[in-house]
Amino acid sequence: MKMLEAEFMKGFIRMANDGWEQGWHERNGGNLSYRIKAEEIDSVRDGLRPDGVWQPIGTSVPGLAGEYFLVTGSGKYFRNVMHDPEDSIGIIEVDGTGENYRKVWGLVNGGRPTSELPSHLMNLDVKKKRDGKYRVVYHCHATNLIALTFVLPLKDEVFTRELWEMATECPVVFPDGIGVVEWMVPGGRDIAVATSRLMENYDVAVWAHHGMFCAGEDFDLTFGLAHTVEKAAEILVKMLSMRPDKRQTITPQNFRDLAAAFQVELPEQFLYEK
Ligand code: 13P
Ligand code: ZN
Repeated sequence: MKMLEAEFMKGFIRMANDGWEQGWHERNGGNLSYRIKAEEIDSVRDGLRPDGVWQPIGTSVPGLAGEYFLVTGSGKYFRNVMHDPEDSIGIIEVDGTGENYRKVWGLVNGGRPTSELPSHLMNLDVKKKRDGKYRVVYHCHATNLIALTFVLPLKDEVFTRELWEMATECPVVFPDGIGVVEWMVPGGRDIAVATSRLMENYDVAVWAHHGMFCAGEDFDLTFGLAHTVEKAAEILVKMLSMRPDKRQTITPQNFRDLAAAFQVELPEQFLYEK
């Protein structure tokens, strides 16, 4: 099969463009990765050129040894992904130790994978260990969520609870809650370790004054998750702009009733009395 006709490739490109259209990817902001299934990589193997030089990932992901990933390129613009995928995105192979990668397709003009590759691969590693169905990790610069990191305490409990209260669907879409990483230098192993620790418990992590990381089983679920979180953040920004307190809201008991009706477990740590 031709590379650009593969469903996983089309889904990846569409998601990147959807993120661009939401306004979450100014300049080269944000990055996306997908852990390719064995049968998917087999279906496009004729188009691979496994002659790239092995490079250090910058961290260790032994649980992903030998796997292939479709990733956005460092410094590449999401607005260009749909128009010039071979320049903007690429497929990499991770070696048998989980320490190195090489390019096998795309990023044709000397491009390299996103500078957040350590975070993407460590998150995918953690998620794969917990649930092999997880394949997508997405980082976007979602405007309203970033704005909230200047006014809310940088605590998992506060971000989770405040966003849950903004839309009844939120606790159903992200019942495990949201983790918060305080401001850190991006693009390296330290922020990758901090984020992947949160991914042990959550599907969403907020990077203070920077953006969102989220993980999911496929492009629909992962994009839908980012979209739901950012929509809730937008409502909270609007609400806080009207008045500093809420006249009425969804109560802890309302959440417990919702959990029973929708058969989700909502951890009590988020249902504190204020
Ligand atoms: P890259 O262009 O290297 O993917 O970096 C963009 C970004 O958002 C860094 O956090
Ligand atoms: Zn970023």
